[in-house]
Amino acid sequence: VRRVSSSGLSRDYDVLVGRGLLAGAGAEIERRLGGRQAVVCCDENVAPLYLEEVRRSLTDAGYSVSHVVIPAGEAQKDLARAEEMYGVFYDRGVRRTDVVVALGGGVVGDLVGFVAATYQRGVRFVQLPTTLLAQVDAGIGGKVAVDFRSGKNYVGTFYQPRLVVCDLDTLVTLPKAELHGGSAEVAKYALLAGGDLWSWADALAGGGLTAAGIADHLVAACVSYKLAVVAADEREETGRRALLNLGHTIGHAIEAATSFRRFSHGEAVALGLHAALWLSQRLCGLSAVEEQAGHDLLDGLGLPRRLDGLTAEQVVSLTGRDKKAGDDGVGYVLLEAVGAPRAGVRVPHALELEVVEWLLAR
Ligand SMILES: NC(=O)c1ccc[n+]([C@@H]2O[C@H](COP(=O)([O-])OP(=O)(O)OC[C@H]3O[C@@H](n4cnc5c(N)ncnc54)[C@H](O)[C@@H]3O)[C@@H](O)[C@H]2O)c1
Ligand SMILES: [Zn+2]
Repeated sequence: VRRVSSSGLSRDYDVLVGRGLLAGAGAEIERRLGGRQAVVCCDENVAPLYLEEVRRSLTDAGYSVSHVVIPAGEAQKDLARAEEMYGVFYDRGVRRTDVVVALGGGVVGDLVGFVAATYQRGVRFVQLPTTLLAQVDAGIGGKVAVDFRSGKNYVGTFYQPRLVVCDLDTLVTLPKAELHGGSAEVAKYALLAGGDLWSWADALAGGGLTAAGIADHLVAACVSYKLAVVAADEREETGRRALLNLGHTIGHAIEAATSFRRFSHGEAVALGLHAALWLSQRLCGLSAVEEQAGHDLLDGLGLPRRLDGLTAEQVVSLTGRDKKAGDDGVGYVLLEAVGAPRAGVRVPHALELEVVEWLLAR
């Protein structure tokens, strides 16, 4: 098991990465947090797969254990579901020193984290992420939220978990499409960090993307990169955290232009990363060789490489709406080299159109 510890956050915590970790999660939680009662929250897809194992491990560690199962899907991430959970916690007499465990993907993590952050102004919260996306991204970093009206993650706060346990064995049951979605974020970290992370991501792509091929050192390196960025900007105030948006400006615009139906988030981000590579070579001095290596990495992971059925104008008209864009226009994260990102790059409108035309013509 690899242990990545945050440092410099409002409250530091460990992220454990390895295989077969769920069985020992209860003991790891008890050792760090204590408490009397544990409530495990998961969705209906994850419940039949991993709930019993997590319940048993918590019971063995001495907790009085109960659980909540919600339907699966992004639509659950709303205030109505949050209110229902407050009710469950209330009825069970959950106290601040008890432990709330989010077992599942980013939807459960964001929702349960939000509820844990706000119930009695914060109860102890643990993430057991079971999707690749949640293990490398959503489950760490402390952003918790629900969606509100048409705004994704519109109501939320920053609330760090006390412990995160990434059991890579859970990825074996993950639908292929979800594995792909997470791999786009892995590619993002590889481009941002370079070095070992790049080589390991490249090896994963070379072997064809499989759950068994996802190495613990690769996931741990993604976690470590994200924790370092988050520590430099925990509450998204200094702009450092914006680095994590590499590929997301065009990616979010593609998601919005296709009404969040045609592409998963990861697929849209992959297209956004292709676009960022193209722009980086033209605006930031990324070498043509590294640009191509980036395109090859994304292709090797089996991610989408071209766009169709849209116009460039449709996509570009949505790039500025991303709430992370700076006030002075669209600030992109681009690369001077693999491992050398630069945030806040202004991209002229004409070039935005050109890069989307390129995605449409590939
Ligand atoms: N907080 C953050 O910093 C952050 C960052 C990125 C994304 N997010 C959020 O994360 C969410 C997306 O997360 P996600 O991609 O994990 O989606 P998800 O939670 O919906 O999980 C994807 C699907 O996989 C199923 N599943 C989960 N684990 C499984 C397993 N081991 N085996 C089989 N099926 C499994 C789920 O039931 C679901 O149907 C979005 O709401 C997004 O806003 C948050
Ligand atoms: Zn993303």
